[in-house]
Amino acid sequence: MFEIKAKDMRGRVGVLKTKHGNVKTPALMPVIHPRKQTVDVKKYGADIVITNAYLIYKDENLAKKAIDEGLHKLINFDGPIMTDSGSFQLSVYGDVDITNKQVIDFQEKIKTDIGTSLDIPTAPFVDRKKAEDDLKITINRAREAVDYKNSQNMEMMLNSVVQGSTFMDLRQKCAHELSNLNADLYPIGAVVPLMESYHYKDLVDVVMNSIMYLPDNTARHLMGAGHPMIFALAVAMGCDLFDSAAYILYAEDDRLLSTRGTYKLENLQEMPCSCEVCSKYTPDDLRSMPKEKRTDLIAQHNLHVSFAELRLIRQAIYEGSLMELVEERCRAHPALLDAVRQLAKYNSDLEKYDPRSKKSAFFYTGPESLKRPEVIRHHQKLLEMPKKRDLVILPPSRKPYSKFISGKLGEFYIYGSQQDIDLDNTDFMVLDIPFGLIPLEIDEVYPLSQNDSPKIKDIDSLEYIESFLSDFIENYQQVLIHLKIINELGIGLYNKCISSDEIRYEKDDIKKIKAIADYQFGVGAGDALFNGNIKIEKSKKTGKIRHIYDGKVIIVNMRASDSYLVLSKEGAKRLHNKMPYPLNRVVVNKDSQPFALEGKSVFCKFVVDCDENIRTRDEVLIVNEEDELLAYGKSLLSASEINNFQTGQAIKTRKGMKK
Ligand code: GUN
Ligand code: ZN
Repeated sequence: MFEIKAKDMRGRVGVLKTKHGNVKTPALMPVIHPRKQTVDVKKYGADIVITNAYLIYKDENLAKKAIDEGLHKLINFDGPIMTDSGSFQLSVYGDVDITNKQVIDFQEKIKTDIGTSLDIPTAPFVDRKKAEDDLKITINRAREAVDYKNSQNMEMMLNSVVQGSTFMDLRQKCAHELSNLNADLYPIGAVVPLMESYHYKDLVDVVMNSIMYLPDNTARHLMGAGHPMIFALAVAMGCDLFDSAAYILYAEDDRLLSTRGTYKLENLQEMPCSCEVCSKYTPDDLRSMPKEKRTDLIAQHNLHVSFAELRLIRQAIYEGSLMELVEERCRAHPALLDAVRQLAKYNSDLEKYDPRSKKSAFFYTGPESLKRPEVIRHHQKLLEMPKKRDLVILPPSRKPYSKFISGKLGEFYIYGSQQDIDLDNTDFMVLDIPFGLIPLEIDEVYPLSQNDSPKIKDIDSLEYIESFLSDFIENYQQVLIHLKIINELGIGLYNKCISSDEIRYEKDDIKKIKAIADYQFGVGAGDALFNGNIKIEKSKKTGKIRHIYDGKVIIVNMRASDSYLVLSKEGAKRLHNKMPYPLNRVVVNKDSQPFALEGKSVFCKFVVDCDENIRTRDEVLIVNEEDELLAYGKSLLSASEINNFQTGQAIKTRKGMKK
């Protein structure tokens, strides 16, 4: 029903499958008014639309036509249609004259693709008692709807909406309980008031506390979100569907949407974009038009910018630059900047979904970038890494640092016990923004070289570096910090300055490949993989390591784009032999064993267990329940997604052990 094609952060490019066709997500569903639709939304890229079943139900003529000819005829749209249940009317007018069962029945009768139960959209910041009482009803109705749908063998898919107001534990509880119901989709409800009042920080809390408890294997709809300003942020949190009444409501109010905010027509000197409408008319042209025509044109502009933003977001996911886009968008308004800062509170959750390697480089766009999952992930790895006695810390050079650093290194300050220098017992690291310390052996691995930050450091970065440094050096007996660093940071807790010919960095390819293996597969992987008569073959053009052999047997290839190791059959065997279960493992059931052995790709439904550290694009070992190696390949999803999905590929197998 839902398949993931590409990922970045919690965002996904996916395909939602319905009876009336597939929907590429993230998608925007324009709200179609059953009585007064004028704009042809398909022209602007709408694959799916949403309309209101309750409004149709309440209008005798519409209801009759919908029942007789079907909803698709009624609103003249032959693609997938979602219907809402009247809950929004309930939240505005306090009452609706339809029951939960009636509205489910009606939606099935008019042949909607996705129907919705009659949830109670509890407003933000209500008192606890109200939120709890409402939630009880919402969950009961969701359960009733699922049971009823199943008992009547209904064809439509069903939405169960997450409520809970701004109480995070209630959002969690609701998401968790709904997940167990086996509905088809779990929209996040009652966020419109948060967005209208610029409570984007609370929006982040509400969305994250819902999404973290929802399954990964279904599209997630942020109900009533139709302003393109927040699409990128919402997608990064894992939202796949948006619906927009905003395009028409704002147009009726002479307001133009943009990713930078909202423009009032009365204030416009210039048209804000280059869509058909903005290219053809001036603000004066629009102002002098009859209301109806003007509304229609502004609605077209609004749809254009909304769909353009979604195209940009999907492209950003494909190339791995979604967070750069989010950080850019969130500079449009201080309340959005709050939101992206709040998002950092969830970075250990986001890290679980973020691919290990991306096509595009990591760009530092401001202090918010210091909190990104890539940074957190690197720090975790650094802490796990075995440490030598001493540490030499160097200032950044051109990247990859290890290519431009060698021989005698200059002057150093010493911190800690002063002993003779022992290069065999010394780690060499570069201090840089945003990753803190980067061991020279692994500096070519994504994103440690594939990143860029401004040369002029902001205060947050300097403070971050200082605090990171002062914590990390406690792991060592003696730390030699380069003079240039001390001068830049202006810190004085270090004693003597020495300039020694002894402090030299000598490149060592064996150390390098072992360190990369440890970083990638876990400590010990380097020794497991690289023993015997190790031969390293480099690219003649770039000088980078390409293939690593034991004698004539290939163990791994090093991928040029991100310097991660790609296993060969021999490499997979060695890793499997020495690295304990469940590290790097994906466990498949008996049924799938013969297929895996032959090198067929692994589908999620056959996976019974996997290493929780697996992320998208990781090299993994495919084993059976006895931990016998069946195959090896590249993961297409992260561990939690593999466990969650019942359809689609989990691992693109490179080779089965049979061949
Ligand atoms: N549209 C906007 N918000 C909501 C909501 O919370 N529930 C439903 N059913 N529809 C909505
Ligand atoms: Zn325009």
